[in-house]
Amino acid sequence: MLEVKGVVKRFGGLVALNKVSLSVKEREFLGLIGPNGSGKTTLFNVITGYYRPEEGRVYYRGDDITGLRPHLIVKKGIARTFQIPKPFGRLTVLENVMSAAMYGRKAASRSEAKEIAMDWLEYVRLKEKADVEAKALNIVERKLMELARALSTGPDLLLLDELVAGLNPSEMMEVVKLVRKLVDERGLTIIMVEHVMKAVMSISDRVFVLHRGAKLAEGSPQEVSRDPKVIEAYLGEPIQV
Ligand SMILES: Nc1ncnc2c1ncn2[C@@H]1O[C@H](COP(=O)(O)OP(=O)(O)O)[C@@H](O)[C@H]1O
Ligand SMILES: [Mg+2]
Repeated sequence: MLEVKGVVKRFGGLVALNKVSLSVKEREFLGLIGPNGSGKTTLFNVITGYYRPEEGRVYYRGDDITGLRPHLIVKKGIARTFQIPKPFGRLTVLENVMSAAMYGRKAASRSEAKEIAMDWLEYVRLKEKADVEAKALNIVERKLMELARALSTGPDLLLLDELVAGLNPSEMMEVVKLVRKLVDERGLTIIMVEHVMKAVMSISDRVFVLHRGAKLAEGSPQEVSRDPKVIEAYLGEPIQV
């Protein structure tokens, strides 16, 4: 479904992504992990057209989408959440989510957008907050709204950037279940960046590890969590999955 081939992204002298290649199959759940600064968000920014890579290509369902602008990437059926949610603070939650449906994959009419937005707000259990100003939401609610917003664009491929960071363990497992159901019941494909190992390892079909802008390891959660390279660079100790 998605193929990233030999992507290089530099910021001045810093090589944030150094020939990264990664592929994802339809309806797969890929966990993307690695230390802070290893290039995870930059990779999302390259896939979604925020940055054009200096080298390499990104293919989506056979089309070369390298460097296509973000508003055109979303039309292809790719959406993402942001590590730091930036809602339109003075719009309501519903209006925030509706705007994603109106400027998403299809340009939904106002009434269609409202229906789409309410459905996803219900899915993420934020329906009661629909008429509240977005700036009044707490961090957990902001994250859920961010998720509803991405879903309302109508994606087939969804990129989640530290969605559960900042949630307590029970909230986290709830959100993890919601997200896994998007693959199992709605047929989406997901790449999830996450530091909470319990979440990533329990939810992912496959895990890809970035370190200093390059691939360190890739494999099943079991393989990756026992890999000495991954333990040394990131995990610190073997973890139970
Ligand atoms: N817009 C930018 N300008 C300069 N450096 C950046 C920019 N975005 C990211 N970086 C740098 O690129 C590296 C990778 O960052 P990032 O992709 O955000 O890492 P991660 O999401 O894995 O924590 C870091 O060293 C970061 O400081
Ligand atoms: Mg990041």
